[in-house]
Amino acid sequence: MQTTNDTPKENKIVYSAIQPTNIVTIGNYLGAIKNWVALQYDYDCFYSVADLHSLTVYMEPATLRKNILDLYAMLLACGIDTNKVSFFKQSSVVEHSQLAWVLNCYTYFGEARRMTQFKEKSTNAFTGFIQQVGDVFNIKERNTSTVVGRDNVNVGLFAYPILQAADILLYNAGHVPIGADQKQHLELSRNLAERFNSRYSPTFVVPEVLIPKVAAKINSLDEPTKKMSKSNTNPNSMILLIDEDDVIVRKIKRAVTDSDGNIENSDKKPGISNLLKIYSAFMDCKVDNAVAEMQGKTYSQFKSILADVVVSKIRPIREKFVELRADKQYLQDCMDSGAEKAKLVASKTMNKVYRKIGIQ
Ligand code: TYM
Repeated sequence: MQTTNDTPKENKIVYSAIQPTNIVTIGNYLGAIKNWVALQYDYDCFYSVADLHSLTVYMEPATLRKNILDLYAMLLACGIDTNKVSFFKQSSVVEHSQLAWVLNCYTYFGEARRMTQFKEKSTNAFTGFIQQVGDVFNIKERNTSTVVGRDNVNVGLFAYPILQAADILLYNAGHVPIGADQKQHLELSRNLAERFNSRYSPTFVVPEVLIPKVAAKINSLDEPTKKMSKSNTNPNSMILLIDEDDVIVRKIKRAVTDSDGNIENSDKKPGISNLLKIYSAFMDCKVDNAVAEMQGKTYSQFKSILADVVVSKIRPIREKFVELRADKQYLQDCMDSGAEKAKLVASKTMNKVYRKIGIQ
């Protein structure tokens, strides 16, 4: 596994999570999940479906229930082995919410407000909501300063990274495999751990990020300067792990490139560079090697080679997913036993924290 930092030897605990907001994209897979799978052989890993985090965006209860099982099954299909890791639903371990509240009280308003994801998401929530209101009432000129719109930016969205810090700190995780978009949240987790440790006494491990070198940020296929996101409303912007072979081929063929025809990795060519990144991440090679391999090929030849690679990697995951998803009871049992294992560690940390701050 290639990452941006060397892994310190002493701490062997890993934590990471993913929100059940939609079906997983190759961005999630290459940026995070692939590393989760690789780490499970040598580390003590805790992974969760971050259902509490997903409440920051409204979802129908039945959809959320379905998404949780879909995501759990998908991660098993990607290779997460419940005999090796504790893999659970975040809300089943109540200590996540308990520690989040304590950490809320140690986070300055200003530092939470500086989180760029909050700024982006609150702007999107606000304009998205105003657009919906406009569409429903067929309003052409939109007044974006209505109180109703502002109400849609909930406090959970603001406190989101603090719950994320609680997730990580509960397990004394030294390593957090994530994509580049989560780096700032990790900084906050580190600051909170250090602040708590210095105010009381050493309690939390200060976690390190594990960001993959090549796939730190996989970009959208239609707007290759933006991150590929599972919440994007354009299905052609992303490849999902449940996409059928022909859908994958079509999406890659449609991917935005440029008109000069040279296969190069450069900021001036975001479309081709993104496709090179996807190719290299699936093939576990350096981008420079992929560029050398593709020299002399046309964009269309490159896209067809890439499509074959992506199809061959995703097809077994999709097929395994379908098989696992059919057995709801098995998924539920795995989730429950994962939560039991996680709770053993989480409750110890929580007791320690309550004792240190003086409420126990
Ligand atoms: P989420 O659900 O948005 O994404 C899950 C993981 O996928 C990575 N990722 C990407 N990596 C590369 N390219 C992309 N286009 C791309 N899109 C997503 C994300 O960086 C992430 O690692 N806040 C987290 C969930 C979370 C968490 C945690 C993570 C909750 N608690 C504690 C780590 C530790 C999130 O929204 O992930």
